[in-house]
Amino acid sequence: ATILVLHGPNLNLLGTREPEIYGHTTLEDINQALSTRCKDAGHHFMALQSNAEYELIERIHDARREGVDFIIFNPAAFTHSSIALRDALAGVNIPFIEVHLSNVHQRESFRHHSYFSDIAVGVICGLGAKGYELALDWAIENGF
Ligand code: DQA
Repeated sequence: ATILVLHGPNLNLLGTREPEIYGHTTLEDINQALSTRCKDAGHHFMALQSNAEYELIERIHDARREGVDFIIFNPAAFTHSSIALRDALAGVNIPFIEVHLSNVHQRESFRHHSYFSDIAVGVICGLGAKGYELALDWAIENGF
């Protein structure tokens, strides 16, 4: 299968960005671990981080053309704002898990609402970088 991991705005700063909230793991560390896990299981791995909403939208559109089977998505701040990204995911109809490093429900109230959770297969938050690996394991174990 082909699995795409998408990282939204500011996640390129992981490792140095508010480490008390987001931890010390870098985005490269996260992608490396996911890539290895994917390859070991015989799957194809792709990843994109972008600070631009339109790039993420276009990556999602391309994913359908490329036959991507499953998406793991941390929309970051777009979680709480982007109807356009929600529509893109609904439009390509590719199953996805929403991941957040922090427990958004423990934080400011503006982080409590997500435009993605009700159309996601599942949501993982508060488990740090481990959340991505759990999402990937789920996708692999469920035959995506
Ligand atoms: C985040 C939570 C969002 O509220 C925030 O805007 C982020 C990261 C997380 O992974 O915990 O940028 O998605």
